[in-house]
Amino acid sequence: MIRAAITGVASYVPEKVLTNFDLEKMVDTNDEWIVSRTGIRERRVAAKGEASSDMSVKAITKLLEETGVKAEEIDAIIVATITPDMVFPSTAALIQEKIGANKAWGYDLSGACSGFLFALKSGAALIQTGHKKVIVVGIDTMSSILDYTDRNTCILFGDGGGAVLLEPTEDENYGIIDEILLIDGSGADALHMKAGGSRKPATHETVDAREHYIYQDGKSVFKRASIDMANVSLEILEKNDFKAEDVDIFIPHQANKRIIDMAARRAGFKDNQVLLNIDKYGNTTGGTLPLGLDEVVREKRIKDGDLVLLAAFGAGYTWGSVLLRYGPSRKA
Ligand code: UT7
Repeated sequence: MIRAAITGVASYVPEKVLTNFDLEKMVDTNDEWIVSRTGIRERRVAAKGEASSDMSVKAITKLLEETGVKAEEIDAIIVATITPDMVFPSTAALIQEKIGANKAWGYDLSGACSGFLFALKSGAALIQTGHKKVIVVGIDTMSSILDYTDRNTCILFGDGGGAVLLEPTEDENYGIIDEILLIDGSGADALHMKAGGSRKPATHETVDAREHYIYQDGKSVFKRASIDMANVSLEILEKNDFKAEDVDIFIPHQANKRIIDMAARRAGFKDNQVLLNIDKYGNTTGGTLPLGLDEVVREKRIKDGDLVLLAAFGAGYTWGSVLLRYGPSRKA
């Protein structure tokens, strides 16, 4: 059986750091509230004019250098993002041109915080049907849709993301083992952007009403995220005859440290099994999972063949889990 293996990972975050203390000067908030309610201390913010494709190209360039793969070898580019450079063409097309992937096709995928999981499944399906090299990106420029006068949302999110290289393997010690992916559109009211789509195109009125920013009913999302992210993690382990202690690293979506702690406890993970980097980056939406994976690989918290569990919950609602054995790492 052919599985899709992650043979490389790289990430990128913009240089500019926005701390809780910086935010204290912008809205009625304080470091103590943000740290105790969310676990976030700082986040990155893209430079003026720096878009999702630019950040993706930085991550992919590093990925190709480190794996020794040439851009023209790439069959497809899938980009999980809710902040594409433009509504169209796709960010994937812009990336294709910038990196010179002249044999690739690709597309953007809108799955919000679960977008990278959905894109991994899509990429794996391409690998299982004949593609040899697929780049899967999770990236978001959340600062482009944040209202920096709204303390309910502007403290939560940051910019950044990463990319992985998928290749086929028949070795059972590596690759994506299983996934559980779900959507529930009844959650749309709790987390969305009101205008700028076909229902409510941009007008002076929508701009004046600040409807091109994220709207979130935090409490409703919190309740669902802390339960569903744990349940979907437990379910995938049981389905594949694993226990929590078999997992080398659990990489949950980083929206709120309290959600992560609840989900990890409910699923039975010890603290040292859980990746936590929300303090540095906040919630980077589609970028969070590849950023986390890159961190554990670079810091050698995992090695080839280790069991990795990814899980996320976000707008839609969307949620899910992906279970995989990392590697085999391709080295240039
Ligand atoms: O990735 C997409 C998925 N998103 C999530 O998973 C996010 C889920 N939600 C959350 O993480 C949390 O609900 C929040 C962090 C957004 C909010 O935390 P909370 O503990 O649910 O706070 P709250 O909304 O109940 O607000 C408590 C109080 C309120 O004041 P009153 O009404 O009790 O007087 C808020 O107005 O805290 C106030 N507040 C703030 N105070 C200082 C809200 N935001 C702030 C702030 N600074 N930034």
